[in-house]
Amino acid sequence: MADQPQKPGRSPVHQHMAELRARALTCTDCNLSQTRTQVVFGTGNPETPMVLIGEGPGEQEDATGIPFVGRAGKLLDEVLRVNGISRNHVWITNVLKCRAFVVEGGRATNRPPRVEEVSACRQWIEAEIALINPLVIVCVGGPAAKLIIGSAFQSMTRQRGQWFTDTEYAPYVMPILHPAYVLRQHGPAFEEARQLLIDDLRRARDKVRELRRHPPPPRPPKVVQQSLF
Ligand code: URA
Repeated sequence: MADQPQKPGRSPVHQHMAELRARALTCTDCNLSQTRTQVVFGTGNPETPMVLIGEGPGEQEDATGIPFVGRAGKLLDEVLRVNGISRNHVWITNVLKCRAFVVEGGRATNRPPRVEEVSACRQWIEAEIALINPLVIVCVGGPAAKLIIGSAFQSMTRQRGQWFTDTEYAPYVMPILHPAYVLRQHGPAFEEARQLLIDDLRRARDKVRELRRHPPPPRPPKVVQQSLF
């Protein structure tokens, strides 16, 4: 990170995040850079204890450059609000920073991230997390859970709402249903899935409160220095 004088009124974390964003906006490390309208970097408060990670931008995010502004984003905002959480309280970002889509019958449809896209983009999410150093990470959907939790994450149905305390990214990590999945449910199934989202986010919020009262012990550095001897 460039060692430049700070702009008045901006904390180092804000400033470093702005520098990181500026670098990410010019990324051409995978093919998605050729079809995107713009890079969709994380947004919110970089001095937060809680980070939410989704899958990747859709059409509206690609058009606006802001994560979670489409239908799924509106539902995410709503379930956060029910728990007294606004976007200014958290950092919201995605595994992929550029829209992944296929064109079928003349229409662009979002598709899941490919392994090589996740590998190329991982540098940005890792740098965001390293800057924020969150207490809690909420993985919104399977791709984020796979990236952050790794092989211990097997199934959203069985493992949503569970705490994972053995990742290298944060002391507490929880996978939750993706709001786009919730929106695909109907009637009572929709209400039930929406309630699960609300309940899981309440538990994530309560975990942050608990950890602020009783901070976890310092964690070992991510990269362990090899002994010289
Ligand atoms: N919008 C995003 O920014 N991320 C998602 O995962 C879904 C919609």
